[in-house]
Amino acid sequence: MTNRFAGQGVVVSGAGRGIGRATAECFASEGAGVLLFGWHADSLEDAAAAIRAGGGNCEIVVGDVARKTDVERAVAGCVAAFGRIDVMVANAGIADFVPFLDGSEAAWDQQIGIDVKGTWLCVQAAARRMVEEGHGGAIVVVSSTNAFQPEQGGVFYNAAKSGQVAVMQTAAMELAPKGIRVNGVAPGIVRTRLAPVTEHPIQRDVFLARTPLGRFAEPVEIARPILFLCSDDASFIAGELLVVDGAYSVGLPVPLELGEPFVPDAVR
Ligand SMILES: NC(=O)c1ccc[n+]([C@@H]2O[C@H](COP(=O)([O-])OP(=O)(O)OC[C@H]3O[C@@H](n4cnc5c(N)ncnc54)[C@H](O)[C@@H]3O)[C@@H](O)[C@H]2O)c1
Repeated sequence: MTNRFAGQGVVVSGAGRGIGRATAECFASEGAGVLLFGWHADSLEDAAAAIRAGGGNCEIVVGDVARKTDVERAVAGCVAAFGRIDVMVANAGIADFVPFLDGSEAAWDQQIGIDVKGTWLCVQAAARRMVEEGHGGAIVVVSSTNAFQPEQGGVFYNAAKSGQVAVMQTAAMELAPKGIRVNGVAPGIVRTRLAPVTEHPIQRDVFLARTPLGRFAEPVEIARPILFLCSDDASFIAGELLVVDGAYSVGLPVPLELGEPFVPDAVR
């Protein structure tokens, strides 16, 4: 095991479960002090206990990524606990799927508020503190393949995920001169509570048939690329959206075993 993040302060939002928890665990196992930020005290406590049991160093802050004061408390909590902030992973999100004609204004506001505004608040608060501390840093925004390959029923989610990419790319340009690298990851389908399709009797097979690797990702398979983007191995990568989807978004896989090849008359 390497210790790539020894001495660093890391904030992970939505760290109580799923991709955020796996990311927090990976950072802690590589020597970072990790501030677990999220909505639910119970799941954060649970994740923190597991990290500490493995010898890792972490603290928790309970709060909402869509509230500026809560985000500022998370960044301040990281600095108070570990002396500095080097990494922000803006991961917290929700996925509200509804037929286009049924969507409500309140649901739109909540999805965009958490995913897009919450991402902007996390990136801004972390970067402001890094600049004050006089060093660079790394920030990763957890978007989705939905940012560029929208899904039916996902008007809120699709819009939120592409909005996050715009936040990431703008921040990347403005913060790179200050030594802060901002990147994103775009996971495909990951086995977490946010993606019930992984357990759905019909949709499960539809998504699997479209995923050339033939399975869904485990949360740690998204966490590891996030750590890569924050590591020195990615020292010249900024403004990049790293797709981690088992080739799900490359194209439409079709079975090749269809009998005799079909050759249109025009090419005979
Ligand atoms: N699971 C997938 O298939 C998948 C695919 C692509 C992208 N993503 C993205 O990955 C990120 C993490 O998702 P996950 O699959 O681990 O989901 P999850 O539901 O398991 O975890 C999300 C975490 O974020 C927290 N959270 C939600 N809203 C919050 C708020 N307002 N303030 C603070 N914390 C909040 C939740 O409490 C939860 O702990 C999300 O941004 C999601 O859109 C997930």
